Amino acid sequence: MKKEEIIKLLNEDITGEIEAILIYMRNSFVTENCPPSRKMEEVAKDEMRHTEWLAELIVDLGGVPSMEHKPLNFGREGAEGFLKRLIGLEEGAIAQYKDHISQIPNEEIKKKLQHILEEEEEHLKGFKEHLERLKK
Ligand SMILES: [Fe+2]
Ligand SMILES: [Fe+2]
Repeated sequence: MKKEEIIKLLNEDITGEIEAILIYMRNSFVTENCPPSRKMEEVAKDEMRHTEWLAELIVDLGGVPSMEHKPLNFGREGAEGFLKRLIGLEEGAIAQYKDHISQIPNEEIKKKLQHILEEEEEHLKGFKEHLERLKK
């Protein structure tokens, strides 16, 4: 796999991270229910760290972080709608990181993506727990 192709995959990952950061931050601002709001804010900070790690990998490969993002869909208004949307985003991120880990041959990059993947799995679990608690 050429460097340019790895850079393209890592930039796709950054696109997803930025989408998550913007949606999680905005939703945390407008969510009145405190525990889910704080969780969204906390996870947004993790996604910023992921963006930083991905950007460092891209720059090390001689590329430029694209910093693009998709049109933002915040989910249905209210904590429950937001959490459902965030769960969907984490599931999408998990599938994408698994795919990219399987494609990228570089061990160091794989390891970093594996670390991110494990954190996305924690995010998914956390958002699901918050959604369950709202339903009780
Ligand atoms: Fe992330
Ligand atoms: Fe995440």
